[in-house]
Amino acid sequence: MASKSDKAFYLTTPIYYVNDAPHIGHAYTTVAGDVMTRWHRLAGEKVWFLTGTDEHGQKVLRTAQANNVAPQTWADNLVRDAWLPVLQTIDAANDDFIRTTQDRHTTRVQTFLTKLKDLGFIYEGSYEGPYCVGCEEFKLPGDLLSGEGDTQLCPIHSKPVELVSETNWFFKLSAFTERLISHYEKNPKAIRPESAYNEVMSFLRSGLQDLSISRSTFDWGIKVPWDDSQVVYVWFDALLNYATAVGLGDDPTSAGGQKFEDTWPADVHLVGKDILRFHAVIWPAMLMAGSLDLPGCVFAHGWLLVGGEKMSKSKLTGISPESIVNLIGSDAFRYYFMRAIIFGQDRSFSWEDLHARYTSELANGLGNLASRVQAMVGKYFDGKLPAAGAHTPAETLIVELLEKTVATTDKAIREFDFQTGIVSVKDFIDAVNLYVTEQEPWVVAKDEKNNERLGTILYTICEALRAIAVLYQPIMPKSMDLLWSQIGAVESGLVQSLNEVGRWGQLKAGVTITKGETMFPRIEEPETI
Ligand code: ME8
Ligand code: MG
Repeated sequence: MASKSDKAFYLTTPIYYVNDAPHIGHAYTTVAGDVMTRWHRLAGEKVWFLTGTDEHGQKVLRTAQANNVAPQTWADNLVRDAWLPVLQTIDAANDDFIRTTQDRHTTRVQTFLTKLKDLGFIYEGSYEGPYCVGCEEFKLPGDLLSGEGDTQLCPIHSKPVELVSETNWFFKLSAFTERLISHYEKNPKAIRPESAYNEVMSFLRSGLQDLSISRSTFDWGIKVPWDDSQVVYVWFDALLNYATAVGLGDDPTSAGGQKFEDTWPADVHLVGKDILRFHAVIWPAMLMAGSLDLPGCVFAHGWLLVGGEKMSKSKLTGISPESIVNLIGSDAFRYYFMRAIIFGQDRSFSWEDLHARYTSELANGLGNLASRVQAMVGKYFDGKLPAAGAHTPAETLIVELLEKTVATTDKAIREFDFQTGIVSVKDFIDAVNLYVTEQEPWVVAKDEKNNERLGTILYTICEALRAIAVLYQPIMPKSMDLLWSQIGAVESGLVQSLNEVGRWGQLKAGVTITKGETMFPRIEEPETI
């Protein structure tokens, strides 16, 4: 057995439905997962980051039918033209991309299902009740809103639910109620944030019903291995992706079995709060039934809102990630969503807020700091980094502040508090900008006998930027890699690493400081966007 320390930090995003192209809500989850996994990688940890697409079920089938194409063709086209390209657009460094129509998934789902049946957790029964195709979810009467006449609406999709009445295969979900409650009582951090934990606990305490896990009225799905007339319920199929992607059920000596041993259980399932119950109730029960380890944590973040409602493909309220990235670049896109929104809370998207933060924090705050010091080293030292002389209290303050910043940022990001992590680096940048204003290197430069003092000031700013280029690397990889080389860190023989970031004095005097392209060029006012 590999001990947990040999295992990868394994983080997943939801696998997204291919009923339409991605919007910034999907990009938001993937960026958060990407920032978190890049953070762990930069700390030297082994990491596995999985994302992908959910391709079966009625929602995708109906979209394909409405477009007069076979569902597999529809999915293939959309994955090729939209879901894979968006990963480039937002600069996600995922290790794998799973599609639920791949053989590696479907065969492992069938094996797992057979195992649960053999263990007695699956039985035949009849189901009658409301179903929302938008959610692909069997709804409880208490979940629904009343619409016109007798109709009942899904509160998420604002569309009438459909009545399903079928003979299906059932999973004994109710048998796991007590075990789930006791698991979460022992592991209160297994569902985050706390509001999500409380929601799941009260849901569990109200008792669980068994779950219909197959459908007979359409065939776009994985065949139930022992019953040709049924396909696996799309959520039962989809949740298993997290385990099938890393070799679920494979012989321990095979490559898949090794991968499973190295990776499972997942440390984090990152999801939106719309799909919390699937992940915190059904999924762990499936794992318990199969005697598999439970994931470390499900984190349910909030929604990007449009007009007070969840931005959605079905409601056609989606804003495409490209429309923003084309304007401000992938780094600023990533920065904005991680910085502006408290992770776990809902928030309306606003161009004005995006523009204001881009201008003040990136273009003016960080961008100016870098270009000013690059220009001054160019002007006063022919572009060669000067050595630092003795520190005054002003430099000591910066050195000490960096140490605090590293500790605060690391703790916050590992706890999913991206905003606090970023604000702590931003405060450091502000402090360094204030240092520049107070030390007035352009005044010091007027007298040649102050040369050593001038060197100390410019070296201090470059060292601060060296640290910033590490701390912001998981958030803004492209521009921080650029900054890293512009301030001579590559020439100094340094490697970006979180473990070393707080150690002062790593840049080597004499390396070349270059003034490259502007990291964050000004963008126009939002009215004209
Ligand atoms: O639910 N704000 O797929 P999906 C924030 N296939 N995040 C949002 C969002 C918004 N307005 N809209 C979508 C499914 N998301 C299933 C998942 S997993 C085994 C199967 C993000 O295409 C958020 O992460 O509807 C949400 O949970 C997910 O996209 C839903 O994507
Ligand atoms: Mg959805």
